[in-house]
Amino acid sequence: MAIIRLSYASLNVTDLGKAEQHYAKVVGLRTTGKTEGRVYMQAPDSQDHHCLILNESASAGLCHFGLKVSAPEDLQEAADKAAAAGLKVEWLKAGDILGQGESVMITLPSTHRINLFHHSEDIGYETGMRDPDPILKNVDGVNPVSHLDHALMVCSNPAETIRFLRDELDFNLSECGTAPDGTLFLGFLSAGNTMHQLAVAPGPDGGLHHIAFYVYDRADLIRRVDLLKHRGVPTLEYGLTRHGVAGVTTTYFFDPSGNRNEFQCGAYETSGASGRVRPINWKPEDLGQATFYYEGSVPEQFYTVVS
Ligand SMILES: [Fe+2]
Repeated sequence: MAIIRLSYASLNVTDLGKAEQHYAKVVGLRTTGKTEGRVYMQAPDSQDHHCLILNESASAGLCHFGLKVSAPEDLQEAADKAAAAGLKVEWLKAGDILGQGESVMITLPSTHRINLFHHSEDIGYETGMRDPDPILKNVDGVNPVSHLDHALMVCSNPAETIRFLRDELDFNLSECGTAPDGTLFLGFLSAGNTMHQLAVAPGPDGGLHHIAFYVYDRADLIRRVDLLKHRGVPTLEYGLTRHGVAGVTTTYFFDPSGNRNEFQCGAYETSGASGRVRPINWKPEDLGQATFYYEGSVPEQFYTVVS
């Protein structure tokens, strides 16, 4: 079983036009397709058709995550494992999602849905695939992000979902939080070569805490914080900060529908092979440092505001 990356997030938004503007002008994605009620977007450094689907909806939140597998036969294997675990499994036909082949949608114990697929239309890098100039044309006020990096979902029983992703879908657990009785309440899971693509934390079932886009360096991140403030984009109380988890430099903000976004850089690399690297373990009393390293504490809304 080989999931190779978090490929896309499919988000519900309450105003499709405003959402597309936000992800184009504030985040720096390009629009790669449109269907009735949906916009597909991609970051410059990814060749697949999309890293984000925006769905016109009555409320914000997560529709599903898309995970790319390394071989077509991985789809059936994942479907079998999910069915054996008592989880809901649905097959989607090629083309049900624009630019994407057949896929299998699994509803996790947390009620979040993950859509596993192998084939995606190859649209190439935004700079082109032949003699590319490294500088993008027509950049409008913001350096584009590199790629969709990871997402944090919340649920009432993180241990159940962490176990399924680790034990059945072969994610590597790179960092975690355990209660004094040994219960897993927080997990950072990797399917690629950086320390997390999916993370699971306590909260209401099906909740989305944030999706994160990777930027090139800290100087770029500092400039982005300036631009977020300058443009009146809703942000968390903090500007630039750092996580103890992953050690990344980070800032949070919201799209117009209330889905939390993150810009981050500096995640360390891991093997991505399940069980090869022993996870870092955080105690509940150290979550302040784990979450906001400089401040050492976490504002209440960081836990309570999810979409
Ligand atoms: Fe994050």
